[in-house]
Amino acid sequence: MLDRLNQQPPDALLALIKLYNADPRPTKIDLGVGVYRTADGATPVFGAIKEAEKRLVEGQDTKAYLGPEGDMGFVHALMPHVFGDALPTGGRIDGMQTPGGTGAVRLAVALAHKAGVQKIWMGTPSWPNHAQILADCGMETGTFNHAGDNGSADMDALRDVLAKAGKDDAVLLHGACHNPTGVDYTDAEWDEIAGLLKDSGVPPIIDLAYQGLGDGMDADAYGVRKVVSSVPEVLVAYSCDKNFGLYRDRVGALYAIGGDADVVTRVMSNGSALARANWSMPPDHGGAAVRVILEDESLTANWLEELESMRQRIGQVRAKLAESGTAGSVDLTPLGKQKGMFAMLPVSKEQVQQLREDHGVYMAGSGRINVAGLTMGNIDAFVAALADVTG
Ligand code: LMR
Repeated sequence: MLDRLNQQPPDALLALIKLYNADPRPTKIDLGVGVYRTADGATPVFGAIKEAEKRLVEGQDTKAYLGPEGDMGFVHALMPHVFGDALPTGGRIDGMQTPGGTGAVRLAVALAHKAGVQKIWMGTPSWPNHAQILADCGMETGTFNHAGDNGSADMDALRDVLAKAGKDDAVLLHGACHNPTGVDYTDAEWDEIAGLLKDSGVPPIIDLAYQGLGDGMDADAYGVRKVVSSVPEVLVAYSCDKNFGLYRDRVGALYAIGGDADVVTRVMSNGSALARANWSMPPDHGGAAVRVILEDESLTANWLEELESMRQRIGQVRAKLAESGTAGSVDLTPLGKQKGMFAMLPVSKEQVQQLREDHGVYMAGSGRINVAGLTMGNIDAFVAALADVTG
C-alpha cells in the first residue's frame, strides 16, 4: 500500500524556515513565512499572552476534553472585536474554535461543499494554501485577477465574476491585509462589493487573518462588517496567529452568519461533525489564553497596545521602502500604500534564488516578501541586494 505513494515536494513557504535557519551568515534576512518581527528582528511572545498563560497555569484545574467546537468563551469573546456594531442579532451568528486560520478556511470550504457549493472563485495571486485546501476538499476553483496594474484591486475582474457566477458558486475574499499582494479593497470598494454580493446572491467566505495589522482593528474589519450587514449568509475564517502572535499554538475561529437562528444551529451541527471527523477538537491552550485576555479589560488594553505598535512598525518599514523609490528594476513606491505584512515584488525565480544565495535574503519563490521581516537596520542592505540582482 504505502509504496504506491509518490514523493511530494515540501511546502515551499515552510521549507524556507529550515533553509534560513541553516544559513550561518549573520547578515541573513528572513522575508519568508509571515511572522512579525520587532525592530530587533525578534518574534517575542506578547506580554498580554505571557500574563494570560501565567493565569492559566495557576488557575486551570483540568485539561479534560471540551468538544469539537473548542472553547466557546474564546469564540464569543472575540466576536465583538471582529464584528463591532455589525454583530448580527437574533441568533443569526455563531462560531467555533479551529486549529488556526487554516482550520477555519478548511472548515468553511468543507461546509460550503456539504451545502452544495461546487465552485469557489478566488482572486489570484492568493495565499498558496487557499488553492491547496480547495483542491483537497474536492472543490472546483475559479480564479480572477486580484490586483490591477495601477496598484489598486482589479474591481472589474471581481465584478465580472460576481455577474457570471453560477447558483452553486461561492467567492473567497481576503478581509484585510491581502496575502500576498498587500492590495486591499478600499471602503468604497467594499460598499460596492457588498451590494454586488447582495444582488448576485453569491455567498462569500471571508478570510480575516491579519486584523489590526493594516489600518487598525476597526478599519481592517470594515469589509467584513459591511458584507455581514448586507447579505444573509457569510462564513468568516479568522486567525489569531498573527494578531496575538500565537502562530504555532494554532488559534482560529470560524463564524457562520445565516438567515435565521435555525439555519445557524444547523450550520454549527455540521461544523461540529466535520471538526470531529478532521481533528476532533482544536488545541486548547492558545484559545484559552486569548479568552483570558479578552475577559479582562486591562489585559485587552495591553494586547491592543502591543498590536498597535506592531502595526505602526510595519507602516514605518513600508514608508521607508517606498522612500527608497526604485531598487534596480523594482519600483518600491507602491509598498507605501499597500497594507499588512506582505508585498509582491516583480522578480523572477532566478532573482529570488540569487537574492538567497548571494545576499542571504530569503523570500517566497513567487516574489512575496514579509515586510515585517525588515528592520531599520537591514532595509538598506535589502534594497541594495534587490538593486544588485535586478539592476
Ligand atoms: C504566510 O502566508 O506566510 C502565513 O500565513 C503562514 C502560513 O501558514 O502560510
